[in-house]
Amino acid sequence: MNNLEYTLNEAREDFDQCKSLTDLDQVKAKYLGKSGVLTEALKSLGKLSQEDKPKVGATINLVKQGVEEALEKRREAILNASQAIQLEEESLDVTLPSRKEDRGSLHPVTQTLHRVESLFYSMGFSVANGPQIESDFYNFTALNIPELHPARAMHDTFYIDESHVLRTHTSPVQIRHLEKNKPPLKIISPGRVYRVDSDATHSPMFHQVEGLWVDQQVSFANLKGIIENFLQTFFDNNDLKVRFRPSYFPFTEPSAEIDMSWKGGWLEIGGCGMVHPEVFKHVGIDANQYQGFAFGLGIERLTMLRYGIQDLRHFFNNDLRFLQQFI
Ligand code: FA5
Repeated sequence: MNNLEYTLNEAREDFDQCKSLTDLDQVKAKYLGKSGVLTEALKSLGKLSQEDKPKVGATINLVKQGVEEALEKRREAILNASQAIQLEEESLDVTLPSRKEDRGSLHPVTQTLHRVESLFYSMGFSVANGPQIESDFYNFTALNIPELHPARAMHDTFYIDESHVLRTHTSPVQIRHLEKNKPPLKIISPGRVYRVDSDATHSPMFHQVEGLWVDQQVSFANLKGIIENFLQTFFDNNDLKVRFRPSYFPFTEPSAEIDMSWKGGWLEIGGCGMVHPEVFKHVGIDANQYQGFAFGLGIERLTMLRYGIQDLRHFFNNDLRFLQQFI
């Protein structure tokens, strides 16, 4: 009997030593498990006399009840302590400054494309599109560059197969649009073009915007006016000078390179000219009745000049430090 009372004290002390529920379960087994102290005591009741059995049995049950209560008390204490630690660790300091979210933005080349589209839209041009994988016919032949024509060498072409290329310029959209639409028409066609070309000012994939205006009374003077107006507005500079330097494109006659004034000199940004009668012939337009002009500008070139970027390859490296400047 004395031993049993001693057991209750011992159990309380053991439980108090436990720091976790796992420890507690182990110690519980020592008293209440299959071969625990109290289970063994109950088993040995049979050996006692009829007189002692109820007294000792009642004492064992009382001790067992006490042990279970102590166990439950300790379990609650451990749970409360771990909850308190968790609350402490998870507490929020609402006075701390919030974490900064990164803001996304459009790529500088896309921003230029949007600006170019909206400026030409305000001058009455609509937007036409064409495929990036183009047939030899649309990219060259219909633009008055037949097979073996030396002008094919002006474009370092990526060939898909014998009769298909990655378009080297946006000019094939002129043909596609003229085939499906009757003049008068006034379109621009922005998009990706490809050439085997790579250095600080040339990229294998770049963007051009094509322009085409066909009507009965369209002249080179209109072309000059439109280009000058566009460039002055695009660069927010009414003093910007534009120079048309005689050049050669098989699909325009006369042809010119477009140069703009830049840091005391001139910089080429595109090509242009009056649509060649041979081009009109390919699409069944009477060159005696209609005339038109076309131009093609480099979008990366315009973006580099607008933002003062020296190397065109920055546009394609996906370096966030570079791109974040255009937010
Ligand atoms: C052409 O591509 C003609 N199709 C333009 C044209 C259209 C002329 C309509 C007449 C009528 P060119 O090859 O010069 O022309 O290219 C035009 C512009 O694209 C260049 O002035 C330059 O700004 C840009 N460009 C050319 N090659 C590259 C390149 N590899 N990387 C970046 N920009 C380029």
